[in-house]
Amino acid sequence: MELFDRLASMGHEEVLVASDPSCGYRGIIAVHSTALGPALGGTRFWNYESDEAAVTDALRLSRGMTYKNAVAGLDLGGGKSVIVGDNRTTDREAIFRAHGRFVESLGGRYITAEDVGTGTADMDFVHLETEHVAGLKERSGDPSPVTAHGVFRSVQASAKQRWDSDDLTGKVVAIQGCGNVGRYLAKELHEAGAKLIVSDIDPDRAQRVATDTGAQVVQGDEIYSVKADIFAPCAMGGIINDDTLPKFQFAVISGGANNQLLEPRHGDKLEEMGMQYAPDYVANAGGVINVFGEVAGWDAQRALKKADEIYDTVLSVFEIAKSEGIPSYKAADRLAENRLASVQTKWKPAR
Ligand SMILES: NC(=O)c1ccc[n+]([C@@H]2O[C@H](COP(=O)([O-])OP(=O)(O)OC[C@H]3O[C@@H](n4cnc5c(N)ncnc54)[C@H](O)[C@@H]3O)[C@@H](O)[C@H]2O)c1
Repeated sequence: MELFDRLASMGHEEVLVASDPSCGYRGIIAVHSTALGPALGGTRFWNYESDEAAVTDALRLSRGMTYKNAVAGLDLGGGKSVIVGDNRTTDREAIFRAHGRFVESLGGRYITAEDVGTGTADMDFVHLETEHVAGLKERSGDPSPVTAHGVFRSVQASAKQRWDSDDLTGKVVAIQGCGNVGRYLAKELHEAGAKLIVSDIDPDRAQRVATDTGAQVVQGDEIYSVKADIFAPCAMGGIINDDTLPKFQFAVISGGANNQLLEPRHGDKLEEMGMQYAPDYVANAGGVINVFGEVAGWDAQRALKKADEIYDTVLSVFEIAKSEGIPSYKAADRLAENRLASVQTKWKPAR
């Protein structure tokens, strides 16, 4: 499809391209929507195989941010930027300062943060050139505890929907990935009385969670076939697919990983199999809530309180799914679209 047709079909407001040959900077900022507020989404630094692949990723990811921010009930639109190049480079200041100037040129219509291939130190360089950056070390800090708390609330809401009680005492939860999100989630679930089964490709990480919570550790792909009430994917995306689905014996799936469904049809399949699936971008919105809190000047407690609301949001998604007879992953999109269509914010673009 031609570029302008793609923008029109996906609903983007604008896509900007910038280059600074003096440092090899090549960046794209995609602003999908500013209907609810400034477009917020991180900067991905990746060695794309072609310029077209980079544009495609920016378009896809920025649209995803509009939906995520809308469902989370935040006054934020959706955007994303990508920097094309090798993210292992040690020569970062010039690149990220060039990116900061590019972000600044949008006058606040776009706010950036970390994403794949970028970290807090990179955002400190961006910050030297613009105020429109979040996820800074000395401000809101690590979003993972807030993300994990939101996932925990999503697990509770899914249990409520499934068993008419959000009491997790004695429920068996399988957690894939014991990194930042997985280990904080394990702690909350353990405190709520759940029994845990965990896996991580890094044995030390799995063992740390086992020591803290009494979890049983399983190896690698075994996690997909364990007998558990709830599955919480907290590692990588695409893990709900043709290979894993036949192994699942879970009643509920609710986790922190992004893009859990390899393809939309796998969300349809979960529905057919009778599994209660809390859509990933609803469950893991605590991360973006934390970033919004930084922009809005909230303290950590207020961000955690906002992440509490993920419980009600997940229940609303299930309600829409039921009343419209659609799978939950489509119902989440419907909820986002309803908010985008109905809410009028005071926010005005700077230009
Ligand atoms: N950190 C946040 O605030 C946040 C917010 C929203 C979404 N997410 C998403 O949540 C997921 C986890 O994020 P994180 O910050 O905890 O990352 P992380 O890198 O700290 O943890 C991921 C863990 O998964 C493990 N892992 C990787 N492949 C695995 C596999 N095949 N089996 C088992 N374990 C495996 C890694 O060893 C690591 O310990 C990612 O998909 C991320 O995009 C994170």
